[in-house]
Amino acid sequence: MNPGDLRALEPDFWRAPSAHNTQPWTLRYRDGSAEIGWDPAYALPVADPTGRDLRLGLGAFTETCLIVCADAGLAVGFRPDYDQARRRIGHLVAADEPYRTPFTVGDVRARRSGRVPYRPGRLDDAVFRTVAELAEAAGARTLRLPCRRLAGLLYDADRHMFGDPAVTRELRAWLRLSPRDPRYDRDGLTDRALRLGRAEALGLRAVLSPRAYPLLRRVGLPRLLAASSRGLLDYDGDVLVLVGPAGCPPEGQVAMGRVLMRQWLALSRLGHTTHPLSQIIDAPATRAALARLLDVDDPARLLSVVRVGRPAEPPPRSARRVR
Ligand SMILES: Cc1cc2nc3c(=O)[nH]c(=O)nc-3n(C[C@H](O)[C@H](O)[C@H](O)COP(=O)(O)O)c2cc1C
Repeated sequence: MNPGDLRALEPDFWRAPSAHNTQPWTLRYRDGSAEIGWDPAYALPVADPTGRDLRLGLGAFTETCLIVCADAGLAVGFRPDYDQARRRIGHLVAADEPYRTPFTVGDVRARRSGRVPYRPGRLDDAVFRTVAELAEAAGARTLRLPCRRLAGLLYDADRHMFGDPAVTRELRAWLRLSPRDPRYDRDGLTDRALRLGRAEALGLRAVLSPRAYPLLRRVGLPRLLAASSRGLLDYDGDVLVLVGPAGCPPEGQVAMGRVLMRQWLALSRLGHTTHPLSQIIDAPATRAALARLLDVDDPARLLSVVRVGRPAEPPPRSARRVR
């Protein structure tokens, strides 16, 4: 395996999705392989204390690397080798033949998260079967719910999130609410990606500022911010929940990230987009409530919650450090 061949493909590898768009992955080329690891500076220790989203993002990155290499005609495979202490999930290695996948680099470039209005209408059964089968092939399950059934849980989860000073501080560090921010084209969540107008972006920056937030938090800011996203699920659409196998270990969560990537690419190909709502499974109370609603025995098995559908307008392209 020639490191130069892989390095040339890095801008496409980096199109993988990650929570808060931190792009936590690292690629170290050595001894004819490329080690996939993570940089703790780009993890989210407060919002993601168990590392669930970190590992899902690393799995999505791995799948993206394999698809991009296959599309370039490179015979590259993945050898899992999870090591928490060394912050490593495995290696891209030379293989006998290119990775078998229906997806292309075009799919990787076209996919994006969509925090945009969605056209009303439930997910077509055939589309749901496609994503459900991708989960089942890996020993997981995908369940679906009508959006409105989760509207109350989303409100509670948002209130919890914006009411937690440490979570809010961490989120603020990844917000890029002005194009003048020097990191605007590199990472994080931009005003464009969050679909905020100029005044809304300025307002959000002001209320979350280290000076204003502690004060406003006490006079109902979390309730106000949660209420502003209340309408998000108040329409005729679907939410998908990825449920991992019982007792899924860390390396299993990496594998689930690969499944998630395949699902999001399959949906994107079919003209759909996804809007992750991880806050519902970040807060212990709403995670437990969702598990009860879905009749899932262990809330820790809930790995991802996304609103899904046909976007009413094209979602913007997000920033990347490697372009
Ligand atoms: C594991 C994981 C969790 C995520 N959770 C959320 C979330 O709770 N809310 C949200 O708006 N986006 C969430 N996202 C989407 C990321 O913010 C998004 O992937 C990133 O900003 C890059 O944008 P892109 O997907 O359009 O390339 C999540 C993504 C991943 C991979």
